[in-house]
Amino acid sequence: MTNPLRDPRDRRLPRVPGPCALVVFGVTGDLARKKLIPAVYDLANRGLLPPGFVLLGFARRDWGDGDFEQIAKEAAKKGARTGWREEVWHRIAEATKFLPGSFDDDDAFDQLAQLLKDLDESHGTDGNAAFYLSIPPNAFPTVLKQMERTGMADNEQTNSWRRVVVEKPFGHDLASAIELNRLVDEVFTADDVFRIDHYLGKETVQNLLALRFANELFEPIWNSHHIDSVQITMAEDVGIESRAGFYEGTGAARDVLQNHLLQLLALTAMDEPVHFDAAALRAEKIKVLNAVCLPKELAAYAVRGQYDQGWLAGERVKGYQAEEGVKPQSTTETFAAIRLDVETRRWAGVPFYLRTGKRLPRRVTEIGIVFKKAPHLPFAQNDTEELGANQLVVRVQPDEGVTLRFGSKVPGTTMEVRDVAMDFLYGEAFTENSPEAYERLLLDVLLGDAALFPRNEEVEASWRIIDPIEALWTHQDEHHGGPELYRAGEWGPRGADEMLARDGRAWRRP
Ligand code: BG6
Repeated sequence: MTNPLRDPRDRRLPRVPGPCALVVFGVTGDLARKKLIPAVYDLANRGLLPPGFVLLGFARRDWGDGDFEQIAKEAAKKGARTGWREEVWHRIAEATKFLPGSFDDDDAFDQLAQLLKDLDESHGTDGNAAFYLSIPPNAFPTVLKQMERTGMADNEQTNSWRRVVVEKPFGHDLASAIELNRLVDEVFTADDVFRIDHYLGKETVQNLLALRFANELFEPIWNSHHIDSVQITMAEDVGIESRAGFYEGTGAARDVLQNHLLQLLALTAMDEPVHFDAAALRAEKIKVLNAVCLPKELAAYAVRGQYDQGWLAGERVKGYQAEEGVKPQSTTETFAAIRLDVETRRWAGVPFYLRTGKRLPRRVTEIGIVFKKAPHLPFAQNDTEELGANQLVVRVQPDEGVTLRFGSKVPGTTMEVRDVAMDFLYGEAFTENSPEAYERLLLDVLLGDAALFPRNEEVEASWRIIDPIEALWTHQDEHHGGPELYRAGEWGPRGADEMLARDGRAWRRP
C-alpha cells in the first residue's frame, strides 16, 4: 500500500520496492558473484530491500539452498561496497533459495513456476519476480521459451509483476539484435524488459544530466558555436583476463563502443528531455543516435588495434595473441577509435571522437568537451603561448568529478596567461559514497523504473552505427591484414593519433 503522507516526487526519501523475488539465471558466473550478489547485500544493508524479498539462484549444480547461501555469502563478503554486518546477511540467508537445473530441463522450469507461487505463501513475495539472465546469449532462446511455456513471464496469468533483465551483448550485429529483441518481446511486454548497460547506473554518468540541465552555466554554450570537439575515452589497464571465450570475435567495438560509449555520446549530445522519465529520456537519446553519421572516408576514421606484449605498472604483460584461449593470428581488436558526427543544428561540424582499449596505461573513463579558442586575444602573442583550449571534463571514473580548464594570469608583472584547472571531486564534496552501478540498476528493476535502461530502438540504432565499421574491418582482414599492434602500456596504435592529427587535433592525455 502506498503511504498517503509520502509525496512520490520527493526523491530524498529512500525508494524501497515492494515484495518480490530476484531470480538469477547463471548464478555461478562471474557477473553474479562479482556484481549482482554483492549489490543485493549492499541494498539490504542500506535498508532498500523489502521484507518480502527472496534471492533465488538457478544453475546446473548439485546444490541445496544451504550450499548456495554459503557461496553467495562469500561472494557478498568479497564484493560488498558497504561494511559487513552479519545480521544483514542473516536476513538475506533466510530468504535464499536454489533450484538446480539446466535450461532445457522442463521439470526444473515447472518447479520454478510452482516455487514462485509458493514463495508468496512462505515469504510474502506477492508472487512478483524479476528474472536476471546472466547467461550466454546463445542460451537466451531456450530460457525465454521455458518462461513462455510455463506462463511464468505473464503478469496476468500470475496476477503479479514479472520482469526480465537482459545483459549485454544485445546481439552481435543489427540482424541478431532484432532477432533477440523479437524473442524477448514475444515473451515479455516491452515495459517489463530491462536491458542493462551498467554505465548508465554510474553516478557520474547521471551527473552529466544534472550538470547540463540543472545549471544555467553550460547549456547556452553546449553547441557547435562554442564547442570544437568532444572526446569520449574508456581506457582499461587490464587485458582480457580470463574472458577469451567471450572476447574472441567480439572485440572492443562490440564490447564497449556499441553500448557504453554510444550511450555516453547520446547523453552528451541530447536535447533537454521534457521530463526526467524513461520515455522522455529515450526520445531524446534516440534522436541523437539516429542523427549519428559515419565519416565518408571511414577507413581513415575507424581505427583498431590489438595489444602486444609490454610493461604495465612495472610488470611485464603478455600480448593478446599469447592470452589463453585466443586463436593464433586472431584479428579481434582490443582497441577501437572512431570519429562520429551528429547531424543536427546543434552539432553540425563538431566531431565526436570515441576510443576504448585494453592494456592502456591506466583505467580511466571521461568525457572531454573541448571548446573553441576565443575569437580574439587582446594580449601579446608570447603571453598566451601556453594557453590551450578551454575544456570541461566529466571524469566518469576513477577520481569521479568534473574538471574545468581555462586560462588564468600567471602572477607577475607581465600579462602571461596559462591553463589552470578547477576541480570538483565527488569524494570531497559529498560525505556519502556513490552506490555501485549494479546496486542502482538492480533497485530500479525491482521498482520498475526504466529511466536508466536502453530500449530496443536504441540498441538497434547503435548497431546501425557499428555494423558498417565491423564490415570494413572484416574487409580489411581479408585484403590488408588485421589490426595494428600497440605495445601494452601505451595509448593505443599510432593510427589513433594520426586520425586526430589529420583533423588538426590531438587526444587528451587523461
Ligand atoms: C563491460 C565489458 O561491459 O565493462 C568489459 O564487457 C569491461 O570488457 C567492463 O572490462 C568495464 O566496466 P567498468 O565499470 O569497470 O568500467
